[in-house]
Amino acid sequence: MPKYQPQRGTYDAYYDEAINIEKIVQILKGTASLYGYTPIITPIYEATELFTRSVGESSDIVSKEMFTFMDKGERSITLRPELTAGVMRAITSNKLYANADLPLKFYYYGPIFRYERPQKGRFRQFSQFGVECVGINSPYFDAETISLAYSQLLMLGFPHVILKINSLGDQESRDAYKEALKLYFADKIQNMCGDCARRYEQNPLRILDCKVPEDRLLIEGAPKIQDYLTESAKDYFETVLRILEESGIEYQVDDSLVRGLDYYSHVVFEFHYLLEDGTSLGAIGAGGHYDHLLHEVGGPDLSSVGYAFGVERLNILLKDIEKEHYEKPNLDVYVMSLDSSCDDEAFNLTEYLRANGFKCEVNFESKSIGSLFKVANRKNAKFALLIGNDELEKGLYKVKNLATQVQVELRLEDIVEYLDHQLEEVEGEHHHE
Ligand code: HAM
Repeated sequence: MPKYQPQRGTYDAYYDEAINIEKIVQILKGTASLYGYTPIITPIYEATELFTRSVGESSDIVSKEMFTFMDKGERSITLRPELTAGVMRAITSNKLYANADLPLKFYYYGPIFRYERPQKGRFRQFSQFGVECVGINSPYFDAETISLAYSQLLMLGFPHVILKINSLGDQESRDAYKEALKLYFADKIQNMCGDCARRYEQNPLRILDCKVPEDRLLIEGAPKIQDYLTESAKDYFETVLRILEESGIEYQVDDSLVRGLDYYSHVVFEFHYLLEDGTSLGAIGAGGHYDHLLHEVGGPDLSSVGYAFGVERLNILLKDIEKEHYEKPNLDVYVMSLDSSCDDEAFNLTEYLRANGFKCEVNFESKSIGSLFKVANRKNAKFALLIGNDELEKGLYKVKNLATQVQVELRLEDIVEYLDHQLEEVEGEHHHE
């Protein structure tokens, strides 16, 4: 085995894996831009305190999963375990709220770091695509944001998804609920796990996230947030649900959904997808409404809503859903220089085809024509273009459709039109857009 391997919980993506990840991100970005979003790019590391304050001391992320280190200037630095806090920090640092029409709408894509126990669909370095809609408190923007996520999943090719939704209410609702949880767990907490004991003190809501089976039994009997929502929080939630219904988005209200980050209020949601065998990778995306995060990092007290998808999870599932449609590396044309005296012409012709929008490669080392066709097949080329001395003399080039084996002879000026037409027919693909 080679000496160097990827670190635990990290992976290398290449060939079809990398191609499809890029395709997924392109679709996500394209759909987000239909909703008026523009990209934001923020640093991969931030001051540790940004995350402890925003994501919250009581969260698993902050209490056990951060990649934190001291830099050479004795500053505590953390590799971002999510992107929402960084986006809020960027909005504040650059005062983006000052001269803009609200809401600000940003999408982002990039690596995220969490020191978790790796398993299928769970990594220590993974990537998120997410959006933040910042500055307006409105159930319509909450619904619009959920609708964007939902549309993106359909655009990606998910035949159906499960949208779980809940309300964590406003501060008053949550304070009342936390009191109720404290009362309920008071005589149970000594028999629960160490994490739960800590959560009981820091934020009893977090107890509801516990995965320990014995603890889960006790959690099932706990009070439900729905019974502690204030009238206005209830109204807000019902409005979001009504807008979703009217736009044909199906959801399941799940009163055990509390999310693992501390900044949420009102609507929270998660998207899930079950494979044919009934298994799931956990949430493929999640998010919610948050009221005070921007203020928490030094900006004005404005409400926002956002979510993030786990791009690797999307990719693993789409690979399973699409199977034979999952894209492999491929070429439109493999140009074959049949003799070293034809290399100049082959070089120029290949560049000419690329300039016309065809994906091409060309060989420059002499190989038998038989092995060149094998290369063309391995590269999933749709066409082969043959250039030998014969072809150069006559000014006629052989173009072979590698799927049908039909071969034609064409003059240089007819090649582009012919390939365009053929490729459109083969796959309804349109070049020269
Ligand atoms: P989150 O639920 O912590 O939310 O992460 C969002 C998504 O990232 C998850 O639904 C999952 O698909 C993916 N994910 C999380 N951990 C891993 C992992 N270890 N390996 C692979 N994928 C993973 C947030 O991060 C919030 N910032 C979302 C948000 C944006 N809320 C408001 N705005």
